[in-house]
Amino acid sequence: MKTITTIKEIRAALNQEKKSGKRIGFVPTMGYFHEGHLSLMHKAKEDCDVVVTSIFVNPTQFGPSEDFEAYPRDLKNDSKMAEEAGVDYLFLPSVEEMYPGERLTYVNVEKITKVLCGAKRPGHFQGVATVVSKLFNIIKPDFAYFGEKDYQQLVVLKKMVKGLNFDVQIVGVPTVRDKDGLAMSSRNKYLGPKEREAALILNKSLILAQEMVKNGERSSAKIKKSMTKLFEKEPLVNLEYLSICDIISLQEISGIKGKVLIALAARVRKARLIDNIVVEGN
Ligand code: PAF
Repeated sequence: MKTITTIKEIRAALNQEKKSGKRIGFVPTMGYFHEGHLSLMHKAKEDCDVVVTSIFVNPTQFGPSEDFEAYPRDLKNDSKMAEEAGVDYLFLPSVEEMYPGERLTYVNVEKITKVLCGAKRPGHFQGVATVVSKLFNIIKPDFAYFGEKDYQQLVVLKKMVKGLNFDVQIVGVPTVRDKDGLAMSSRNKYLGPKEREAALILNKSLILAQEMVKNGERSSAKIKKSMTKLFEKEPLVNLEYLSICDIISLQEISGIKGKVLIALAARVRKARLIDNIVVEGN
C-alpha cells in the first residue's frame, strides 16, 4: 500500500493506473476504522482493480459546536487495517492541502439536505457534498463506496453525482452491526459501558418498527408512537428525531406503502448516533 499526502502525487499515481486500464474503486472516510469501513474496502476490492481510501476529517461538515477537534483519530492503526484489507493507495491530505486559501466554493444539494440530519445540522451536507466533489475531482474513481448507515448522505451524494454529471457510480453498502445490534460508528468510542448498553435502544426500536410492519401496521403515526414510548424507557438516550419517509425524496409519509425509510438520531451523553432501516409494506 502506498501512502500519499499530496493531490499532485495521488493524481500522478492514479493517472498511471488509469492509463493501463485499471478500474478505480474509492472509499472516502474520516478514519478511525471499524468493520463498517472494512466492508466498504472489501466491496471495492471485489469490484475494482485498484482501491483508494482517503482519511480526511473534513472541517466543513462539522458545525461550530460539534466534535471536529474531538473526532477520534488513530492513523497508525487505520493504516494497518487498510493495508490488511488490500487497499492500494491511502490518501491522507492535510486541511491546508484540501482547502488552501479562503474558502469560497461550496457544493449544495437542495431540499433533501433540509430534512432529517440536515435539519439538525445546518451546513453539514454542504460540507459533505463539497469535500466529496473535491475528492472525486482528485481521485476520479469509477466506483465510490458509502455505508447505508448514513442513508441520507448516500441519497444526497447520488443526487449530487446526477446533478453535476460526475462520471462515477455510487455504491451503497449495508450497515455493519456489532453482535448485539449496535450499528458500527467511529462515534461509538464516546460511549461508556452503560451508555453503550443504553444505545442498543436505537436498533431495538427499528426492529420493533419492522415487526409492526410485518404484522400489518401501516400507520406511520402508530409506529412512531410505539418507538417513542420505547425511547421514553431509556433515560440515558435522548431521541433527536424520528422520521418515516420516502427512500428517495426523504419527505415524511403518513402510511407504509412499498419501500419506506425509518431513520432516527439520538444523543447518548456527548455521542450523537444515527441508525435506520428500510421496511416494505404492500
Ligand atoms: O461518511 C463519512 O465518513 C464522511 O461524511 C465522508 C463521506 C468521508 C465525507 O467527509
